[in-house]
Amino acid sequence: MTANRVLYLLGSAAPPVLNVAGVIEKAQTAGWDVCLGLTPTAALWLDDQLPALEELTGHPVRSRYKLPKDPDVWPPADVAVLAPATFNTINQWALGITEKFVVGFVAEGTGKDIPVITMPCVNAAFVQHTQFNLSIASLRAMGVHVLYGEGGFVPNKPGEGQPDAYPWHLALAAAESFVSRGDAGGTRSTDQRSP
Ligand SMILES: Cc1cc2nc3c(=O)[nH]c(=O)nc-3n(C[C@H](O)[C@H](O)[C@H](O)COP(=O)(O)O)c2cc1C
Repeated sequence: MTANRVLYLLGSAAPPVLNVAGVIEKAQTAGWDVCLGLTPTAALWLDDQLPALEELTGHPVRSRYKLPKDPDVWPPADVAVLAPATFNTINQWALGITEKFVVGFVAEGTGKDIPVITMPCVNAAFVQHTQFNLSIASLRAMGVHVLYGEGGFVPNKPGEGQPDAYPWHLALAAAESFVSRGDAGGTRSTDQRSP
């Protein structure tokens, strides 16, 4: 199958990110050209896998903003999925704190009408923090498709996370649904350079 639709898979530092290679393979089998972006901490966690992940995707793995003089190394996105999304990344995104490339991309992406999906990975203690539900509500109000709660990720008790049970299939199905209903791509034909 020729992959002519582009999925930006953007991960932060929660344990399911360690399984991202298998998720990329599933997405590729479904016909996606996958570009992998990571927070700097997630990139550190995956340090020993980065060369293999670049070979698998056929694109550089990005965890930092490019320099102004540098070219855009990824094709334009049809859909972006930020998963797993840590407590930290969800809150930074909702509050507009964009020093991380992956957060900057999705923060700008909704304004460019690129479909953006996120699935948190947080435990039941983190979600007691008042900012978390405010952040989820803000992201939903911005048009982000947040897979959290019923039909999405359900927080585990602290210390009882099951990274292998993280419901990646829900994120891939959501990405698929944007393409099949024709919402994908945003303003890619005019101006959709990644930062
Ligand atoms: C072993 C381990 C597991 C972690 N699991 C989670 C998690 O499931 N969810 C979460 O929000 N943070 C988790 N953290 C904390 C994040 O890695 C930490 O807040 C980090 O700063 C997140 O950075 P990022 O959002 O830039 O990727 C974990 C940390 C470690 C060391």
